[in-house]
Amino acid sequence: MSLIETARAVRENAHAPYSKFKVGAAVQAASGTVYVGCNVENVAYPEGTCAEGGAIAAMIAGGDTRIAAIAVIADSPQPVSPCGGCRQKIAEFADGDVVVTLATTDGTVLETTVGKLLPGSFDAAYMSRA
Ligand code: THU
Repeated sequence: MSLIETARAVRENAHAPYSKFKVGAAVQAASGTVYVGCNVENVAYPEGTCAEGGAIAAMIAGGDTRIAAIAVIADSPQPVSPCGGCRQKIAEFADGDVVVTLATTDGTVLETTVGKLLPGSFDAAYMSRA
């Protein structure tokens, strides 16, 4: 199954009763293992978590540390755009040239990269004097 089809499948499990906007994400780690995540909302709205964050948390819990590819899908008019927080979370574990596949449930696909999604990102090098 392609990464986007894996993301499409896990999207069905999203808990999104407040926004009604279900999102699925699939991360392929450098080892080849694929990890999935979906958004999990909460009645205390700020406590909700994004699909990408869930997939990354699963990857770390599974013992992998580097993202080789990532796909995100939602029922949106345009391929869904990861939020700023998720861009930073992805950048923590991915090189700038890692491909990010963004898709709509009706089949529109946009391929971009981590570096294009978050240019000039804050990284550990800025903390070299700490
Ligand atoms: N959401 C994600 O899971 N990932 C994104 O890239 C965009 C937004 C979720 C958060 C919230 O549960 C819902 O979509 C509406 O913002």
